[in-house]
Amino acid sequence: MTSIIIRSPDYFHLHLRDGLVLLDTVTATAMNFSRALIMPNLQPPIINTKDAIEYYYRILNVIPENNNFKPLMALYLSSNTTIEDIILASKTSIIKAIKLYPAGTTTHSNHGIKLTELRQYYPIFQCMAEHNLILCIHGEVPDEEVDIFDREIVFIEKYLKSLINDLPNLKIVFEHITTKDAVDFVINSGPNLSATVTVQHLFSNRNHLFENGLQPHNYCLPILKTEKDRQSLIKAVTSGSSKFFAGTDSAPHAKNKKEVSCGCAGCYTSPVAVALYTEIFDMYNSLDKLQGFLSDNGAKF
Ligand code: DOR
Ligand code: ZN
Repeated sequence: MTSIIIRSPDYFHLHLRDGLVLLDTVTATAMNFSRALIMPNLQPPIINTKDAIEYYYRILNVIPENNNFKPLMALYLSSNTTIEDIILASKTSIIKAIKLYPAGTTTHSNHGIKLTELRQYYPIFQCMAEHNLILCIHGEVPDEEVDIFDREIVFIEKYLKSLINDLPNLKIVFEHITTKDAVDFVINSGPNLSATVTVQHLFSNRNHLFENGLQPHNYCLPILKTEKDRQSLIKAVTSGSSKFFAGTDSAPHAKNKKEVSCGCAGCYTSPVAVALYTEIFDMYNSLDKLQGFLSDNGAKF
C-alpha cells in the first residue's frame, strides 16, 4: 500500500503554548490536523472567555496561508470560574470545553482545583451540561500518599465514579488515559464518558523511561504505565469503539527544560502524531478503524 485516505483528523488535546514558539507549534499542527482543542494551561492560565478569544486570535495570526486549521478553545477551571463565565463561553462558537486540572498534577496546574472540593463545582458542571460544554479532565490524584503509577485508578475510584453518577447529563472526556483500569471503566460507562489516548502511551511502557539510562523525553504525565496497560490501550483504540479518540497531549518544552536535573513533563508529538497513530493501527491490522479514531469519534462526541 502506498497511500491511505481518511477524513481530515481532529486532535482533542493539544498544547500550543504562546509567544515565540506559537508559530512552530501551530504550523506543525496545521499541517496534520484540521481542528484541535487547545489546552489553556498558559501562565497565567486562560480562565475566561475574553482571554480565550485573545489567545484564539494569536493562534489564527500564525496559521499558514491557505490552511483551514481551526483551533477550538478550552477554559481552565479555577476557583475564580463563575456561572456567568460558563454561559458566556457557551455563546461563542469557539469555546467547546472546560479543562479540569487537579492542582499539583502536571505542568502549570497550580491554579487548578482541589479534588476534595470537587462538589463545590457541581453548579458549574450542571450549567455546562445545560449549555453543551464538555468537561475535559486530567484524571489523576496527585496526593503525596498515592503512588504515581496509581494516580489514575485512585481518581476513578475516589472521584470519577461519583461525578458520573451525580451528573449523568454532563459530557466528560477522561483525557490521556493510561491504564487497563481506565479502559475498562470507560467501556463500561454510559455514552457521556469518552477518553482520549496519546501516541506516547500507545508506543511506550514505563521501561522506556529507563532504557539504557534515564530518558527524559519519555517523561510525561500521566506517567507511562506497564506493558499490560499499553496492550489494553492498543486493544481499545483498534477495537473501533467510538468511545476512544485521538488527543495526543503534544506538550513542547525547551530542550534545556527536558535535559536537566529536574525536567519538565511532556512529549512534543504533534508533527509526527498522525504518522505514529497510523503506524500503530497498521501494526495491529486495524487501518480500517483509523479514521474513526482520528477523525470521526471525537467530532461526534
Ligand atoms: O506531560 C504533560 N505535559 N502532561 C500534561 O498533562 C501537561 C503537559 C504540559 O503542559 O507540559
Ligand atoms: Zn495536556
